[in-house]
Amino acid sequence: MSKWVEGKVVRLRHWTDKLYSLQLKADIAPFTAGQFTRLALDIDGERVARPYSFVNGPDNSLLEFCFVIVPDGPLTHHLVALDAGDPVFIAPRGAGFFVLDEVPEANTLWMLSTGTAIGPFLSILTTDEVWQRFRKIVLVHAVRTRQELTYGEEIKALLAAHREQLQMIPFVSREDTDFAIKDRVPLAIDNGELEARAGISLSGDTAQVMICGNPAMVRDTSAVLEARGMKKNKRRDPGQITVEQYWKEN
Ligand SMILES: Cc1cc2nc3c(=O)[nH]c(=O)nc-3n(C[C@H](O)[C@H](O)[C@H](O)COP(=O)(O)OP(=O)(O)OC[C@H]3O[C@@H](n4cnc5c(N)ncnc54)[C@H](O)[C@@H]3O)c2cc1C
Ligand SMILES: NC(=O)c1ccc[n+]([C@@H]2O[C@H](COP(=O)([O-])OP(=O)(O)OC[C@H]3O[C@@H](n4cnc5c(N)ncnc54)[C@H](OP(=O)(O)O)[C@@H]3O)[C@@H](O)[C@H]2O)c1
Repeated sequence: MSKWVEGKVVRLRHWTDKLYSLQLKADIAPFTAGQFTRLALDIDGERVARPYSFVNGPDNSLLEFCFVIVPDGPLTHHLVALDAGDPVFIAPRGAGFFVLDEVPEANTLWMLSTGTAIGPFLSILTTDEVWQRFRKIVLVHAVRTRQELTYGEEIKALLAAHREQLQMIPFVSREDTDFAIKDRVPLAIDNGELEARAGISLSGDTAQVMICGNPAMVRDTSAVLEARGMKKNKRRDPGQITVEQYWKEN
């Protein structure tokens, strides 16, 4: 199989002036929910490629990727200029280990995300496996402003379909709201606010925690969980924490 498949843009969903989702059709191999692929465009004679997590479930042929425009970022300014019908290059198969196969059994699965990293969790939540394996699932989406709480309709449908099993807890850090926690995730774990809101304790005996997005959030949240005796999952030494970070800290 060649290195790139040419896909076609179906639609660009517009959440805020910086936050978008790209929907496209492309003939790629099956992927596992939670994985990412690479998207690329030819810019000034050079193919510029970056990894993006699938938001759609593996059964959905309409591929979807959520992205934020990064100031001075080489690719995102060009992604946002795409129109329906435009070509986008995509890697022929999914990659990565942020998938349920890497997560041991537990009572509760905590899915902690910032910004665009809600995507892989939405993909995982389309699978039957996640509902069969975990008694409770807590989805956390931490953003700066309420407008950045993407996929409200999709989450509402999941909540309606899995009323007893799923909770969604939004964090909005830079605005007052009457529904979200106005704090950062590691602080809200440390001071008990997240568990109080969920009505479930977050402990190594009963929980698995997947964390995705901003590397500082991944680091700080992992540290708070490690202070509670949890540890990173390794294939030969299972723990409770599975992470994926979207960029490297400076
Ligand atoms: C496994 C993996 C999966 C990823 N999935 C997604 C995804 O689903 N959606 C997405 O928007 N990005 C995702 N990214 C980041 C993405 O690959 C690009 O880095 C990002 O879109 C910016 O591209 P760029 O070329 O404009 O800038 P780059 O040169 O790639 O990045 C410049 C700087 O922007 C910051 N940055 C990068 N990504 C983000 C981000 N998502 N939010 C905030 N700041 C960022 C970092 O400081 C980075 O050093 C993922 C990265 C990895 C490693
Ligand atoms: N979203 C925008 O309007 C905007 C504007 C300009 C540039 N950008 C660019 O886009 C990038 C990503 O922006 P984003 O809006 O997706 O998200 P972000 O900066 O990753 O913020 C998302 C959430 O993560 C929180 N967070 C940040 N550091 C944390 C840590 N160490 N521990 C726990 N929580 C932490 C933020 O809280 P705090 O609010 O407390 O930081 C916020 O609630 C930025 O790095 C920037 O380059 C975005």
